Amino acid sequence: MVSVLLSLSVSRLGLWAAGLILVLGLLKLIRLLLRRQMLARAMESFPGPPTHWLFGHAQEIQQTGSLDKVVSWAHQFPYAHPLWLGQFLGFLNIYEPDYAKAVYSRGDPKAADVYDFFLQWIGKGLLVLHGPKWYEHRKLLTPGFHYDVLKPYVAVFTNSTHTMLDQWEEKAREGKSFDIFCDVGHMALDSLMKCTFGKGDSSLDHRDSSYHSAVRDLTLLMQERIDSFQYHNDFVYWLTPHGRRFLRACQAAHDHTDHVIRGRKAALKDEKEWEKIQSRRHLDFLDILLGARDENGIKLSDEDLRAEVDTFMFEGHDTTTSGICWFLYCMALYPEHQHRCREEVCKILGDRDSFQWDDLGKMTYLTMCIKESFRLYPPVPQVYRQLSKPVSFVDGRSLPAGSLISLHIYALHRNSAVWPDPEVFDPLRFSPENVATRHPFAFMPFSAGPRNCIGQQFAMNEMKVVTALCLLRFEFALDPLRPPIKMPQLVLRSKNGIHLHLKSLRPDSGK
Ligand code: HEM
Repeated sequence: MVSVLLSLSVSRLGLWAAGLILVLGLLKLIRLLLRRQMLARAMESFPGPPTHWLFGHAQEIQQTGSLDKVVSWAHQFPYAHPLWLGQFLGFLNIYEPDYAKAVYSRGDPKAADVYDFFLQWIGKGLLVLHGPKWYEHRKLLTPGFHYDVLKPYVAVFTNSTHTMLDQWEEKAREGKSFDIFCDVGHMALDSLMKCTFGKGDSSLDHRDSSYHSAVRDLTLLMQERIDSFQYHNDFVYWLTPHGRRFLRACQAAHDHTDHVIRGRKAALKDEKEWEKIQSRRHLDFLDILLGARDENGIKLSDEDLRAEVDTFMFEGHDTTTSGICWFLYCMALYPEHQHRCREEVCKILGDRDSFQWDDLGKMTYLTMCIKESFRLYPPVPQVYRQLSKPVSFVDGRSLPAGSLISLHIYALHRNSAVWPDPEVFDPLRFSPENVATRHPFAFMPFSAGPRNCIGQQFAMNEMKVVTALCLLRFEFALDPLRPPIKMPQLVLRSKNGIHLHLKSLRPDSGK
């Protein structure tokens, strides 16, 4: 009797649960449909490429060559067009300087539909935060990129680069082309750990290498998640093998950052180390975070601390890795510019063997080439916002609050209305006279406005030191059998790596 009653109440409970799930599902669907209607209505005055009834534009976006597909859409639809990832997530995709200025000169928040995918990995650090807390953290961390803090980093970049170049001497002797992406990534992570996280002189250990490969997985998985509507819902995503792979990679990344924080906290307990830090005129990034107190003397919570460390660890090395690799690819592709950059850096160096801070300002041609490679191969190809208030564009069209914006930096940098012959590599586009006459929002590798890149000076210095040293040591040539295939994975990577032939320029290299 009891068991019959029990089975009856269990089955009734099951029915209730199923009913509840159905109602919740229906409510969610209604919310999604209403939002879709709002987003679609907001973009009514913007024509765009045809959309698939289920995937929107997601299929085109996921294919190889998607970046150039967007450039071709940009030719067809000047200024902007709707971009649908599935049926419920629609952005106005913009690639025109006045459009970019209308949105990016204001401080609208990041689009949560995309940036919330970061939370499991980098938490609410500077990249994702918004409002007063973002402002406080930005103010707190800005001194970590003061010019006096950046100066000694020139020597750190130099040492990490020499370690990589010594390994390249051996690879170059084999006479075969090789993929430079992974080596550059290790070098950039090594520099970052030494500059901003107080790592000693030791080179990367197995923990750092696991972190590096975890980031490679995470950026790939994140991009796939953004582009695949079936992964957008958290509940569904964590049940999929893709989601579980993402969680495992997050764990590997967190193990690394926790280790870095623990190590630094332990070092600070040592009085001598603390005195050494206090005697420095400017604190590094991790000193600032560990020493931060609010007006009531309360420290940064462990969660906030880890979010910032995770954010900077990723943003600070993967972006510069992409920048350096695509720059070296451009040098291999255009030997005449490679030659001119090398001549310039040789002249600056004279008979010295390493660069100093003052040298960086003299690398004018190299800097123009770096900017031209950022134009054609922007390390961060796309960024997203959600409008907190309506915006009106130059051509009279407008969008209401709540609309989603995707700034397609890659397409903006190839907009033929701004850049004549956009596919041509021409560093003189960045001569002072040409820059003076160009729209300030035509070139945005570091984004622009209040939410621009906090690390851009750090990044430019690193780019100059590393690339100058590379050009002094090697001649770079293409491997015609393995041209890179551009792939956005949060940063711009190549599906098949960047394979180059290197010829050592050291007089004793043949021995
Ligand atoms: C070539 C190298 C780099 C490029 C092209 C680059 C590009 C960018 C871009 C486009 C944004 C805006 C992102 C968005 O709106 O979603 C950004 C933000 C940011 N970058 Fe960079 N970045 C580079 C290097 C660095 C470095 C070296 C660091 C740190 C050491 C860094 C730290 C950050 C942080 C923390 C933000 C968020 C800033 C905020 O919202 O207040 N970046 N970066």
